[in-house]
Amino acid sequence: MLERKPLVSDKIIRKERDAKVLLIDPERSSWVVVSKSMADLLCKLDGSKTVEEIIRDTNDRVQKDVSQQLISGFEKLFRLGVFKNDDDYSNYQSQTLDQVYFNLTKKCNLQCIYCYASAGMNNALKEMPLDFWNNVVMQLKQLNPRSSICLTGGEALLFDGFWRLAEKIRENGLGLSLITNGTLAKPDDAPRFKSLFHNIKISLDSLDENINAVTRGTGVLRKAMRFIDRLIAEDFKPTIMVVVTKENAHRLSEFKAVFEDRVNMIYQPMYVMGRASDDDILGLTAAQYYSALDSAKIDKMKEENTIVRNRRLVWCGMGRNVLSIEADGRIYPCHLLHNEELKLGDLNQDDISAIWSRSSFRKNSVDDIEECCTCEIRYLCGAPCRARAYFVKGSIFRKDPLCPDFIRRSHIDNMFTS
Ligand SMILES: C[S@@+](CC[C@H](N)C(=O)[O-])C[C@H]1O[C@@H](n2cnc3c(N)ncnc32)[C@H](O)[C@@H]1O
Ligand code: SF4
Ligand code: SF4
Repeated sequence: MLERKPLVSDKIIRKERDAKVLLIDPERSSWVVVSKSMADLLCKLDGSKTVEEIIRDTNDRVQKDVSQQLISGFEKLFRLGVFKNDDDYSNYQSQTLDQVYFNLTKKCNLQCIYCYASAGMNNALKEMPLDFWNNVVMQLKQLNPRSSICLTGGEALLFDGFWRLAEKIRENGLGLSLITNGTLAKPDDAPRFKSLFHNIKISLDSLDENINAVTRGTGVLRKAMRFIDRLIAEDFKPTIMVVVTKENAHRLSEFKAVFEDRVNMIYQPMYVMGRASDDDILGLTAAQYYSALDSAKIDKMKEENTIVRNRRLVWCGMGRNVLSIEADGRIYPCHLLHNEELKLGDLNQDDISAIWSRSSFRKNSVDDIEECCTCEIRYLCGAPCRARAYFVKGSIFRKDPLCPDFIRRSHIDNMFTS
């Protein structure tokens, strides 16, 4: 270590908060939080001196022996991959198709007021039969045997052949998850769910019937809770998915208080799409969303595309790592973007491998997005939700409307506390 000549990028960005300094290397998705004196030292490292020489110079300058302190500081910095001449600097996000949404039906027994899929029992969209989906499973296995399928909709449990499809997916070794409103599952099926699904996400907006009823309907809470409790009794850890709106924003901490660690929690803002765009009286601004999560001590921007040191996250995944298949076989880059102008193909005419290979979104990156391409944390952030940009600003090449007040602010907070 003493022989190495550390080099810090001349593009380094410096942000100060209290006595701490956050240094960000925008090109390398690298960051570190250090004291002011260490930040001053690091910003001068141009690769010309060894660690040993740097320590000697510093000892002379401060006229005392700070060698041990600096050695452990440098060890940590090398471990974190902060320096430009580190060998372990990697890599870009995956190029493989990792997750495919099977929207089995547009029918739903509920009528949630914000439903982006505009699902309901009256939805007459054509549905493909079990054979069709089984065939897609085999195609996907060939393309990427390590990929995962998420069954969703509408309400996936209304699909005739739900269990046989789940079994087919698992027999072929693919990952399997489910997003469900939790009201149709028979409690006695809990062991079967446990044996087939890696992850079960149940949607619920509040543990207060009056609040949950506003967005998800009367009596839904009791049924969904029955399913959650049965899964927990089977030693399965379900995930509760909460859509945060003006209705429940002040009560978000209740889930943790009641379930502690027996469930995983996912919170997401309400997207203004589908039925939610009919009358957007429930949506929160980015700043309100930040405050709602912050006051309930909920992690922000740490879920799915969590920032990773020394890995460039360049795209949200749509059309590249993720595809979504509509109930009728049409295929889109994301389950939130079932829009004709973004359609990638139709599985009634082509196979998934050909459609995915042609997807132009595989080449896109955060550098293609106006307002993001000059951002110093762009490769840490990867410019999340293209669907929000599309629905709020009219283009997938605009900045996510939750930035800066939620996204950027949360990333900077997370870096300071990392
Ligand atoms: C369309 S639903 C389909 C699966 C199932 N019916 C359910 O509700 O869990 C998928 C997920 O999207 C959420 N969702 C629906 N509309 C939304 C919106 N406008 N904004 C954010 N999330 C939404 C639902 O709460 C659910 O967690
Ligand atoms: S959010 Fe889910 S449960 Fe609610 S209407 Fe849409 S598909 Fe049905
Ligand atoms: S969304 Fe915001 S934080 Fe993320 S890259 Fe774009 S400007 Fe930067």
